[in-house]
Parts: sequence; structure tokens; C-alpha cells
Amino acid sequence: MEIQFSRHRRLRSSANMRSLVRENHLRPEDFIYPLFIYEGENIRNEVSSMPGVFQVSMDNLEAEMEEIVAHGIKSVLLFGIPKTKDACGEQAFHDHGIIQVATRFIKEKFPEMIVVADTCLCEYTSHGHCGVVEGEKVLNDESLELLVKTAIAQAKAGADIIAPSNMMDGFVAAIRAGLDEAGFKEIPIMSYAVKYASAFYGPFREAAEGAPQFGDRKTYQMDPANRMEAFREAESDVAEGADFLIVKPGLPYLDIVRDMKNTFNLPIVIYNVSGEYAMVKAASANGWIDEKSTVLEMLLGMKRAGADLIITYAAKDACRWLKEEQ
Ligand code: PBG
Repeated sequence: MEIQFSRHRRLRSSANMRSLVRENHLRPEDFIYPLFIYEGENIRNEVSSMPGVFQVSMDNLEAEMEEIVAHGIKSVLLFGIPKTKDACGEQAFHDHGIIQVATRFIKEKFPEMIVVADTCLCEYTSHGHCGVVEGEKVLNDESLELLVKTAIAQAKAGADIIAPSNMMDGFVAAIRAGLDEAGFKEIPIMSYAVKYASAFYGPFREAAEGAPQFGDRKTYQMDPANRMEAFREAESDVAEGADFLIVKPGLPYLDIVRDMKNTFNLPIVIYNVSGEYAMVKAASANGWIDEKSTVLEMLLGMKRAGADLIITYAAKDACRWLKEEQ
């Protein structure tokens, strides 16, 4: 009897055969590592819902950066937790705001490191929203002015990439115009083009102390049910001059990552967010999953989906594991 079928297993017969035909790879330069810089002294607080992630004050930043460099990580994304907050988030754009101070320090001590500045107001505003608030409304155009000021302050401090995340309409156009006028034509914008209103941001809000004090972010972040809307958001950001497109969160939105990769000719960045990180840490602490293989499979899945770069809290672990595999 002769039956016809394909022998797929031929290419899986040994470790070397599998590596010969492997289609996607993880590299340390794929990762962008988020850092939480805390205004104050002698602070190195582990975030309870994110084991292995620390809020650090300036006096502990050099040691943290040395560790990051030793892992082979080449870019960091900075979030700040200021001492004081107010209605319009002045510490976000003040020359002595914590992110500006941290950026100057990193660029002086570690000039090769790519510093990506998260451009948003929610960590700096007393109400915890990402823009200017009137009553319970988050105002669009008024918020843009403050965002532009923030981006310029970050660029002046030496940031290599500006990453606006507040989801106001027109933020790329406004920031591009502001940066150009201030003499920063060369600085790229990594836009959080496609950012969903997600429950997966929970642990981040503990880490960055930026939870909204009333309401939620659903009038500016996207509805998780929508796909067409992701194309509209990305199209307008591309037209306004974005240099990178971020899709956020990661795991539940891999379909959107593939859509963006197939449609736009810009580097696609996925944000493997705090809740995704926390779930894996919690399950592995319970002995329910194997952390190393789970994390590497997740990150590889993101690349396979079309991500060129991955913002991830697991960057240090992943670099260490990748070295072990070599
Ligand atoms: C602030 C911001 C958030 C995250 C990154 N920037 C929180 C939010 O929008 O509520 C979440 C990142 C994460 O969960 O890891 N605009």
C-alpha cells in the first residue's frame, strides 16, 4: 500500500537540524528595558506585583545601568515618579524634572545607551490622567501643548527617542512641529499609535504611581474589541510623521501586530506590558510553569507576529537565558 503524505518531521530530527531551519530569533538588541526613576534618595523598591523590577532613585541609577549594560541591553525607556504632582504635571516638563535629570546622567555616563523618553503626564498629574482635566473631561488640544513642552524638555536633556503615550489626537503632529521648531529635527518619534484601554496595565500603575484618581482612560485609549480603529490610529500617526509604531499591550494583540507589520513600512514595536510580566512571574513562583521557556516562547511569538522590537520588563532575564543557550 502506498500512501501519500508530507514528512514535516524530517526538519525536526535534531537540535542542529531545528536550528538550521529556525525562522525567528531573539537578540539582546531587540529589547527596550523600562526603568522607573524615583525622585528621592536611597530608593531601590521592588515593585510587589513585578518581582525583579525596581523603582530606583538617582543615587542607585549608575549601578542599575551597569547591570543593564552588562546584560547587553542597548536601550531603556524612562518613566519618572516625581516628589510632587499638580493639576498640569509640571514636573514632566520642568528642566529639573526627574526624567530630564536621569536622561542627562545616563547620556553622560553611558553615551552609547539609547534613551527613550516616555512622553506622558499621568505620573505627574495629581488626578492621574494623561492630559489636562476640566471637571471629569480630559481635554485634547490643551493637553497637546503640555506634551510638546515635555518632549522638548526631554530632547534638551539628551533623549534619543521621544515616545508619546498619552493617546491625545494629533500628538505626533504637535510634537514633531515642536521638536523641529526647537532645533531637534533629527530626533525620532516612537508613537504609542495603537494603545488599548487595558486591564493588563494594573501592575504598572503601582510601579509608576500613576493610577487615575477618577474614571478610567476609555475616552482616550482604544476599545479592546476594535481592529479597524487600529488602522485609523496608525495611519494618522504615520501621516503626522511617526518613525516607529507601538502596539500595546502585547500578548492579547498579536493579530494587531501582524496587521501593522503587513500594512506599514515602519519598525513595529510591541509593549509586553506589566500585567503580562506579572502573570508569568506569579505562575512560575507557584511552580505552575517553567519561567525561562515560557518567557522566551512569549517573546519569540511577538517577533513571529511581526514585532521588530520588544519593550519588556523581562529583558534582563531574557538576555541572561539567551547567553546560557549559546
Ligand atoms: C502611561 C503609561 C501606562 C503604561 C505605559 N505608559 C499606563 C496607562 O496608560 O495607564 C503601561 C505599561 C505597562 O503596563 O507595562 N500613559
